[in-house]
Amino acid sequence: MVNVKAAATAKQADIPNAAEALAALAYDDMRRVDALILERLDSHVDLIPELARYLIEAGGKRVRPMITVAAANMIGHSDIAPLKLAAAVEFIHTATLLHDDVVDESGMRRGKVAANLVWGNASSVLVGDFLFARSFSLMVEAGSMRALGVLSAAASTIAEGEVRQLSSVKDIGVSVDTYMQIIDAKTAALFAAAAQVSGIVAGRSADEEAALETYGRELGLAFQLVDDALDYGGASAKLGKSTGDDFREGKVTLPVALAIAASSGKETDFWTRVIAGGEQVDGDFDQAVRLIKAHGALDATVNQARAHARRAREALAVFPANKWRNALEDLADFVVERAY
Ligand code: IPE
Ligand code: IPE
Ligand code: MG
Ligand code: MG
Repeated sequence: MVNVKAAATAKQADIPNAAEALAALAYDDMRRVDALILERLDSHVDLIPELARYLIEAGGKRVRPMITVAAANMIGHSDIAPLKLAAAVEFIHTATLLHDDVVDESGMRRGKVAANLVWGNASSVLVGDFLFARSFSLMVEAGSMRALGVLSAAASTIAEGEVRQLSSVKDIGVSVDTYMQIIDAKTAALFAAAAQVSGIVAGRSADEEAALETYGRELGLAFQLVDDALDYGGASAKLGKSTGDDFREGKVTLPVALAIAASSGKETDFWTRVIAGGEQVDGDFDQAVRLIKAHGALDATVNQARAHARRAREALAVFPANKWRNALEDLADFVVERAY
């Protein structure tokens, strides 16, 4: 697989320097994880490996499995179990991407035409189900009932977050609190589980396990906040996915929630028309970006991300300093810096 190496060298990698440092360190382990992923997506039903390979070989940053691998190394646990769990984590993530692109009617993923546009929604949903199921086999092989419990809970939490977000589409009353709960569920839960399971299979204390969980959760919140800022302020070519999707769908993410809160008069009318009413014409997205920027809502979103990244970093303080801890700390910074 090319991804880890690509992450270490490609300038367009989403979090270039962090991926560089961490991917270089985790290179051998991640090759084994990628080998496991490729092996386990095989099926005698040809469409399954065809579609799954299309997405998986397109790359992706592999941030979540790298967290599992790096956390295990940080605490000195070298064993096959974290590698199996890392592969399971990426399978869960890949399944959610296939489902998410159907739900969001997205046209681009990892720099390629989204699988739902190539094979159709039904195929994407069903292959997503297959990947979910395979993730469970891998978790069982890792041999820890607790790790299985934590990851399966995360999988249902992600689905809850996605459903909750779906139910709040076009609702301009979505509060910052509600938004944070949604991203905690749809994104941070898997980051948290990815880190925590390494502590579980290594048999670490409850405190250390909790510290890993906090690291993952805070990093995940920072990651999604930045992702939501980039949907208005980023470059599609660099992200490998279309920008403006959240706006088109009427999703109230933090940049929009803050701009709505700061609006009055004509600006409030604008948001009501384009988000609540779903009536969008040419130029509305640009106008949304202008209003968001005028109210400092992108900077405020990135500042929120920065605060969570700092908490992620701080959570690692309970572990002895080593190169793996440094790389995980740096990852927290670079998740935020990819915003610029
Ligand atoms: C995309 O995740 C979904 C979000 C939580 C924003 P990534 O940005 O990690 O996607 P890949 O795996 O690198 O493509
Ligand atoms: C990604 O959410 C899917 C999950 C976190 C389950 P988004 O819809 O916000 O992310 P992108 O922009 O499609 O990657
Ligand atoms: Mg999406
Ligand atoms: Mg979505």
